[in-house]
Amino acid sequence: MVQIDFDTRFRPRLKHAAIVAACGAMVLLASCGHSDPLTPTGPDTVADERAATLVSQLTTTEKLQLVHGTGSPTLGYGTFPPEALSGASYIPGVPRLGIPAVSSADSAAGVNVNNARVTALPAPVALASSWDPALATEYGAQIATELRTLGYAEGLGGGVNLAREPLDGRTFEYMGEDPVLAGTLSAARTTGTQSQKVIATIKHYAMNDQETNRTVSNSEVDERTMRETELLAFEIGVKQGQPGNVMCSYNLVNGVYACENATLLTNILKTEWGFKGVVQSDWGATHSTAPAAVAGLDEEEPGLGVGAESSPFASYFGSYFDSKLTAAVSSGAVPMARLNDMVQRKLRTLIRVGILDSPPKPSGPIDEAAGNAFALTVAQQSAVLLKNSAPAISAQAVLPLSAASLSSIVVIGGHADAGVMSGGGSGAVPAIDGNAVSGCQAPASATFGACATWYKSAPLAAIKAKAPNVNVTYLDGTNATTAANAAAAADVAIVFATQWQTEGVDLPSLGLPDNTVDPSNESYDQNALIQAVAAKAKRVVVVLENGSPVLMPWIGNVHAVLETWYPGIQGGQAIADLLFGDANPSGKLPISFPKQDADLPQPVISTADLNVQYSEGLLMGYRWYDAKQIEPQFPFGYGLSYTTFSYSGMHASTDSAGNVTVSFTVTNTGNRPGAEVAQVYAALPAGLGEPPKRLVGWQKVALNGGAAQQVTMTIPAQRFATWDVNQHAWKVNGGTYTLLAGTSSRDTNALTNSVTLSAH
Ligand code: BGC
Repeated sequence: MVQIDFDTRFRPRLKHAAIVAACGAMVLLASCGHSDPLTPTGPDTVADERAATLVSQLTTTEKLQLVHGTGSPTLGYGTFPPEALSGASYIPGVPRLGIPAVSSADSAAGVNVNNARVTALPAPVALASSWDPALATEYGAQIATELRTLGYAEGLGGGVNLAREPLDGRTFEYMGEDPVLAGTLSAARTTGTQSQKVIATIKHYAMNDQETNRTVSNSEVDERTMRETELLAFEIGVKQGQPGNVMCSYNLVNGVYACENATLLTNILKTEWGFKGVVQSDWGATHSTAPAAVAGLDEEEPGLGVGAESSPFASYFGSYFDSKLTAAVSSGAVPMARLNDMVQRKLRTLIRVGILDSPPKPSGPIDEAAGNAFALTVAQQSAVLLKNSAPAISAQAVLPLSAASLSSIVVIGGHADAGVMSGGGSGAVPAIDGNAVSGCQAPASATFGACATWYKSAPLAAIKAKAPNVNVTYLDGTNATTAANAAAAADVAIVFATQWQTEGVDLPSLGLPDNTVDPSNESYDQNALIQAVAAKAKRVVVVLENGSPVLMPWIGNVHAVLETWYPGIQGGQAIADLLFGDANPSGKLPISFPKQDADLPQPVISTADLNVQYSEGLLMGYRWYDAKQIEPQFPFGYGLSYTTFSYSGMHASTDSAGNVTVSFTVTNTGNRPGAEVAQVYAALPAGLGEPPKRLVGWQKVALNGGAAQQVTMTIPAQRFATWDVNQHAWKVNGGTYTLLAGTSSRDTNALTNSVTLSAH
């Protein structure tokens, strides 16, 4: 594989815009996306008809021009006309027919392009911790508003690969380990994106669950596992969200490259799920012309940069849909009907999303104030309070802090004096006005760059502002003894710990990295620091900034742990708001936190074995810990609040179609307002070979102290189905289903009830 320095390619900047939440709250039963009424006058029919008319007017040369990029402006790979924007790709339009050029940009947590001021939102894994589809819709809309303001018609930010492998360096870009949670939030995000007339891409289809050997590895996974885990996330995302694009991934799936895998692209995605948009290759993931086109690939990215044949990118990215596709169409190796379908898909997407009639134009700066306000909201709603106990000197839990009753706080480590961390690669959002932490040196061997982005949102300054009469000091953490002594003298010690991750590189361990594991971003042993501080502090709080779970060998010695993920441009403010109780934590883990690497299904990612065996089968994430009876450090769905909730009065019933209605009451038993993500899991009948339980529904309820609310959710029969490998179809099995309603996947006080379903 050609080693390319991607360091320069991932560089955005900020500004903002207003957004409208388009989608309603829960997305359990109905789609909150566009409906797909194939009625004679429905929007899809109209889009199809208009697209077909345009296709009939295009020359073959024009058609061929529309199905591949022309290089990557961000990478400086190719020569572009003045109207092409800096971005991941550029496809020229056909002005004589009013077909606009399309510039795309990466946009995992904000627009990732050079020289723009844009909003860096908390990472997608943080969004997933909110468990809030309405917030996901706003998240998609916020980024899309900024994309459009800057002139982009397409955002590439919809990563939904499941955390089958938590060491995956892109875990921060995805939405956790559960297919229904990730798929539902993906659909909601897509709806928000496309509500702003920007094409949403969901990616990376499929089974692209690690970065090690990502362009050459072969995911070996059986049909049922594939369908019930990662493909289910895509199925929900595609059917409910109706994204314009699905990006096929670099890897092979069962021996066939994902971007020329007819089973995945044509049989499942297009035929079975009814996807009418464009299958777009990941950048350089196309490996053939006729096989890829015939298998269902509709667009090659980034294509060959004009005049860039001698660029090192040329051999990495390749070019299969330019002159080679021209030849394949004229020889008949790729039928004209297939080319027409490729173009039809693109044009109907441009029409349906609203771009053909209203192409985006760069239109001035984004609304930074609106972006910042939304970034703060997401950060507050996505942080997860993992531990909150009373120190020896008090009967009260350490959080929230009360400035009035403290005289000194020492803030330690994690560059909390400068800013908050973010992930790297195409999912990065570069910092406005430069990196808050300077001096990082990327080693010459680094393929993807190795310097974290730090946003200038310093927790230290925000903590000081909350406690103007408290003596707040800062130590950088490099001297554990000094830090421990300062902690002993202070009322509270707040230790910041970070774990950087990026595209292209997996983590060697879930342990907090030290200066040997990540010398670019860490200058000391974070675990040793926390242990030293915990041994002496009166009260000690750990604040985490990370993309994957982290191991906590010190968990028994600290009083509180606040998980903030990569919290975005308002991270410092949000952290202070949460620590002092001006915001009440309401996030829940979208991914299990193990106690040790050895508890993972694959404790080590092999660099030598290109066959990635999904030998754990259905036991992904919490299903693994449940089935193997391994106690995680913190289970999927877990998260505390500054108030408490109780559950009571559970009822469950079914209708003739097998949909299950569950209701119960959630009561805020404390006196502070808070929000609870009430979760429903199902244990399927014995003998089906299923894991002990699966998430089937949830609802986030906001309650004032003492208030109660009845939660009612209708869970579609589909959520109870298993994949039948004989019929190659979903099937609901007859039998008794136990339902559990509670505050996490391992709530020992969960309410239980059961329903009997007949086979469907
Ligand atoms: C990544 C994609 C990204 C693309 C364009 C690829 O390396 O895997 O997620 O959208 O680059 O930057």
